[in-house]
Amino acid sequence: MAIPPAPDLPRIVTEIAAEMAAETDRGVVADYIPQLAGVRPDQFGLAVATADGQLIAAGDTGVPFSIQSVSKVFTLALALGRHGNAVWERVGREPSGDPFNSIVQLEHERGRPRNPFINAGAIAVTDAILSQYAPKEALGEILRFIRFLAGDDDIAIDPAVARSEKQTGFRNVALANFMRSYGIVTGQPDKVLGVYFHHCAIAMSVRQLAMAGRFLAFDGRLAPDGRRAVSARMARQINALMLTCGHYDGSGDFAFRVGLPGKSGVGGGILAVAPGRASIGCWSPGLNTIGNSQLASRALERLARRTGWSVF
Ligand code: DON
Repeated sequence: MAIPPAPDLPRIVTEIAAEMAAETDRGVVADYIPQLAGVRPDQFGLAVATADGQLIAAGDTGVPFSIQSVSKVFTLALALGRHGNAVWERVGREPSGDPFNSIVQLEHERGRPRNPFINAGAIAVTDAILSQYAPKEALGEILRFIRFLAGDDDIAIDPAVARSEKQTGFRNVALANFMRSYGIVTGQPDKVLGVYFHHCAIAMSVRQLAMAGRFLAFDGRLAPDGRRAVSARMARQINALMLTCGHYDGSGDFAFRVGLPGKSGVGGGILAVAPGRASIGCWSPGLNTIGNSQLASRALERLARRTGWSVF
């Protein structure tokens, strides 16, 4: 399914970037590690990769930022491609309604995380990938997959971010060990976490992110008639999870306001998908109280409204 882009899309994207540049209420930059705390909050970028192969972008479109939890979309796609439905034995498909790093549901639910986008779920998905590889190889596979999706080899892990995540990620250590006690995580928790922290520390620009998300907009292909990354069914399933779980306890509000599948990260990035039409990368480092980018959410709400791209 390929739908031609709105003819006025370049104008809409430029206007939204200008509006966001003028915003004063920009949210609060994540400060749990110095590498994120030091990012300038006045930045904003928006990039839209369309079905006809255009990349329309405005603002800080080439600045690499820490994709953090947006990486969970790519690790899920990789794990589903390798292990198929076996992934769902470890992790559920329901919104959690709790913060991204919450542990509370795990005890009542036999260590099986509600969905693959909360931290516990993503750690379990990383463990599934690791069941086939040594940690270094697993990271290499994840990075190769993202570069393939984006059609861009200039995508790398920020080692300082990964190190800091490791030094401060005590809650993730608890989640991994708790799931290990239930056999949901099967590998050594420190190895699983090493890979998890590193894939969260991948840095990309909004242009690269929009390109990397194309497979979700085009039925699993890099373009409507392009190379296949995952099956069409898998792409639909990932989009469904992004819509229902991609913004944690803010997922309902994002669906209400924007009406597109989306996945956020505490680096301020959001990958959003307009099925059949476009893949969208948006970034602004200031977060709302839930941990989702304040301006990227606002910009996507305006983009969906002005293009009529809401899936509803
Ligand atoms: O594990 C963590 O806490 C971070 N590396 C990633 C969290 C994140 O991006 C959640 N997103 N909003």
